[in-house]
Amino acid sequence: MKTKVLMVCLGNICRSPLAEGLLKSKVDTSTIYVTSAGTGHWHVDEQPDPRSIAVAKKNGLNITDQRGRQFKAEDFEEFDYIFVMDNSNKENVLKLAKNEEDRKKVQLILDEIFPEENVDVPDPYYGGDSGFDNVYKMLDEACEKIANRI
Ligand code: 4NP
Repeated sequence: MKTKVLMVCLGNICRSPLAEGLLKSKVDTSTIYVTSAGTGHWHVDEQPDPRSIAVAKKNGLNITDQRGRQFKAEDFEEFDYIFVMDNSNKENVLKLAKNEEDRKKVQLILDEIFPEENVDVPDPYYGGDSGFDNVYKMLDEACEKIANRI
């Protein structure tokens, strides 16, 4: 059975689609399944934000096939790892956890590069394009670590 990884942010259009695309590009997708979700419902079935599509493209990744979906409690049954982009996502995801096993699956993605420092991936939605470059760089580094240990 495949190892299953879920990337979670708020809207599932800016940060988690980049994390999904990056991790997919670094692992053997015949043994590791990677997808993403948002804790919010606003962008269900939508493509990633054009600015995320653009920064991915600039770095050689195509994320245009992705569509928004909302995180749900049943995702705890399906996924082995749940990486959240910030502390607010973490709180919202943990609200739906049923037990310690569920809770143990949830990790701030930047713990990969700044362990125990509680660092958020900043939400770039209301900012300019440089915010997306910055987010891409952080997620690239974090996904490299994840790909090497899962
Ligand atoms: P994301 O960014 O969580 O990185 O996808 C956001 C996208 C949309 C909204 C908030 C954050 N929104 O409020 O619609």
